[in-house]
Amino acid sequence: MLITLLFTACSHEDPNSPVYKRKQVFKEMLRTSQSMRDMLKGAKTWDAKAFQLNADKLQQLAQQPWPLFVTPDQNDHSKTDAKASVWSHPQEFHAAQDKLLDSVTKLKDVAATGDADKIRPQFSAMEDSCSACHKAFREF
Ligand code: HEC
Repeated sequence: MLITLLFTACSHEDPNSPVYKRKQVFKEMLRTSQSMRDMLKGAKTWDAKAFQLNADKLQQLAQQPWPLFVTPDQNDHSKTDAKASVWSHPQEFHAAQDKLLDSVTKLKDVAATGDADKIRPQFSAMEDSCSACHKAFREF
């Protein structure tokens, strides 16, 4: 019991905290996009159907982190890399979310063609929207 208490007290990652949950979503977004990139690069066999399913999944995931950016809670000791600009520049943060959603939707549309050469530029545009937001709103 004492050990459990100590462990809880020292643990920085509470699986129920919004910080922890949003990081899980981001990790899943990364895993999904990496698998798509591997296919586009030829590191994985091209499978148009699997690519489409991943594009659908990415569209779902791309909507999930934002409600989890709640006002920081001092009792939540989960480590966060979110910059203060998330809260000081909500409109810009929101615009960056829209940019991702827009590029993921376009990616999904072009994924339906099954043509990797057409998909490639839209995939890069989607990745650019990840890094553009990270530059402004995430510590590295
Ligand atoms: C609108 C802004 C925004 C967009 C767009 C965005 N991210 Fe992030 N991302 C963040 C912020 C802010 C954090 C820091 C979260 C934290 O630590 O609380 C983050 C964290 C992450 C992390 C680290 C999670 C961890 O375990 O610490 C990964 C991986 C990640 N994002 C992947 C992606 C990928 C892949 C995309 C595009 C498909 C993307 N993100 C798009 C804002 C964004």
